Amino acid sequence: MKRFLSMILVLSMLVMCFALTACNNTTTEEETKTPAEDAVKPEENKTSEEEKPEEETPVEPVAKEKLVMATNAYFQPYEYYDGDKIVGIDAEIAAAIAEYLGMELEISDMNFDSIITAVKTGTVNFGMAGMTVTEERLQEINFSISYASGVQSIIVKEDSAITTPDDLYVEGASQKVGVQLGTTGDIYASDDFGADRVVQYENGNNAVLALLSGDVDCVIIDNEPAKALVAANEGLKILDTSYAEEDYAICVAKENTELLDKINEAILALTANGKIAEIVAKYIK
Ligand code: ARG
Repeated sequence: MKRFLSMILVLSMLVMCFALTACNNTTTEEETKTPAEDAVKPEENKTSEEEKPEEETPVEPVAKEKLVMATNAYFQPYEYYDGDKIVGIDAEIAAAIAEYLGMELEISDMNFDSIITAVKTGTVNFGMAGMTVTEERLQEINFSISYASGVQSIIVKEDSAITTPDDLYVEGASQKVGVQLGTTGDIYASDDFGADRVVQYENGNNAVLALLSGDVDCVIIDNEPAKALVAANEGLKILDTSYAEEDYAICVAKENTELLDKINEAILALTANGKIAEIVAKYIK
């Protein structure tokens, strides 16, 4: 009997032991499972609960009025493509002007000689393209205060016989001059050397390709784009003596004096706070 009792005791202890172990295991399993599951489920619930009200009552952003700028984005460092984005001095100054006016900037890329027409006809609000202020252009559109100055330079091949602008004016000279259509380089060169010596290209890059292939003997273009073109193509140089000096400004339709006033106010403010100088310094070292 004693033996029987002690056997029962041993058995029941064993059962208790198993039960405890089982219990412990369950606890352990639950402990590891639960936090992992908890971490997902309540999160999911939270997200849907927290996001729903936002989706149902979205905060309406106040739509900013658009300010459309016309440019010709083959004119580094003023406007050029970085991937599919137009960047550069003009693009950044225009963005700063739009921000100052609480407006949203949109840039429309087109041929340089289409910009004034686009501004005049109201297809765009203003033109900004390293555009030089000239008397002829002032007959058609208004210009803002000048925000930068430019210089017309002459690009030649490194071994060119042209060493100074004077070489182009010599009696009987016949060198061909490449320019970007409709630019001051085009206008001045046609006046100075005659239209038959001037070859117009859609952009400065094409004019430089023509110079490299010998179709023209030099290219007249603004100095900063000239530097970028010479840096990107081997065997070219810029003559030390420049061809002309000029001021760049933004053009606006004659009747849109309200926008012109706003742009001028923005240019003055962005000059005073150093923003324009900061943008220029970022692109012209
Ligand atoms: N400054 C010159 C002009 O007004 C050339 C400007 C060319 N600009 C351009 N984005 N391609 O005629």
